[in-house]
Amino acid sequence: MDLEEPMGSVWRASAVAAGPGGGCRVLGLGTALPSTRVSNADLERFLETSDEWIASRTGIQERRVAGPEETLLDLAARSARACLGAAGVEPGQVDTIICSSSSPDETFPSLACRLQAELGCPLGPAFDLQAACSGAVYGLALAQSLIQSGLSHRVLVVAAEIFSRLLDWSDRSTAILFGDGAGAFLVGDERSPGSEILALDLGADGRGATALGTLPAPLDSQPSPNMPEYTSSKRSLGRVVTMNGREVFRFSTKILEEVVLRLAESIGVGVGDIALVVPHQANSRILATAAGRLKFPMERFVTNLERTGNTSSASIPLALAEAAANGVCRTGDLICLVAFGAGLTWGGLILRWGPTAVRVDDPATGG
Ligand SMILES: CC(C)(COP(=O)(O)OP(=O)(O)OC[C@H]1O[C@@H](n2cnc3c(N)ncnc32)[C@H](O)[C@@H]1OP(=O)(O)O)[C@@H](O)C(=O)NCCC(=O)NCCS
Repeated sequence: MDLEEPMGSVWRASAVAAGPGGGCRVLGLGTALPSTRVSNADLERFLETSDEWIASRTGIQERRVAGPEETLLDLAARSARACLGAAGVEPGQVDTIICSSSSPDETFPSLACRLQAELGCPLGPAFDLQAACSGAVYGLALAQSLIQSGLSHRVLVVAAEIFSRLLDWSDRSTAILFGDGAGAFLVGDERSPGSEILALDLGADGRGATALGTLPAPLDSQPSPNMPEYTSSKRSLGRVVTMNGREVFRFSTKILEEVVLRLAESIGVGVGDIALVVPHQANSRILATAAGRLKFPMERFVTNLERTGNTSSASIPLALAEAAANGVCRTGDLICLVAFGAGLTWGGLILRWGPTAVRVDDPATGG
């Protein structure tokens, strides 16, 4: 299927400005990474691949993988605590929890319900959404509409992923791409200090559903002595990622460009007025291609995929938090978040950067 032409009209449909005052702010941002680092050289020991191939085709140099006892809830809770701690907000003040994960270890109850109990939040709504790598942006959009409608006042949006348990570690075309991590946003109304959401753009095209998905995990093969513990089938979620890399590449470059253009237009600015683009951290070649088409300097694309790989829906909060913690985001900056992924889905928004409190929980770097 050719994804480029038939979807063109759909892609031009949906950017909307958030309305006068926006009515909604990102108050806090927290992230959590597992401590185990896996470099491309580590993968060379059991996969027919090379650091040179991976780095030149994807930009990825290393990724993190969860430890044997580490759960999705552990990562989600660490990122949520970092977020609430940074914002100085107690769990008792969070009235709604939305979680995004493509790698949940159970179908139900939701990760959000587990997290509510773990944090001790009040008994408001808690639910998971599934929009693959676009999940954090979908979650922010939902949080905004819940706040604007008056149904919620403080919404925690948590994206957590353990893709190391959703991979066929003998498939070099997918095993090299992904990593584990989590990120949490606290969203509140305009009375609180934070970064204002100015515009949103969400969409999906299910005609591209077969480009990126999962299949049942291959039947247990004889474990090779070279295979590290994190590849063990005992840790597998029972399904593995399958992907048409070229089709995903084509879709991603095109949608990234279109969403940035639509968002800028919806608030009456030029692409050049955007200070930073924080894209889904899939692959540096996708980002460079989109930056070239937008004539937007690659230096103003925030990336940390070199060190994290593709952490699916956790990737945007992880990249944004790192940039903010390093002082790259300045007050008043227009910052554009753009996600794309399986579904096919996409989601973007523009923030006017303000006093969003940020904390990075990374035991490997002491962050
Ligand atoms: C996955 C991706 C990096 C592959 O790059 P590519 O240039 O399209 O490479 P191809 O799949 O055409 O493979 C080229 C060759 O490299 C080989 N190859 C694939 N993976 C390899 C690896 N890890 N190491 C070494 N060689 C590899 C292939 O077998 C193929 O060999 P052949 O020519 O002998 O058949 C690229 O398609 C891509 O970035 N796609 C988007 C992926 C993505 O970001 N997904 C998540 C989105 S949310």
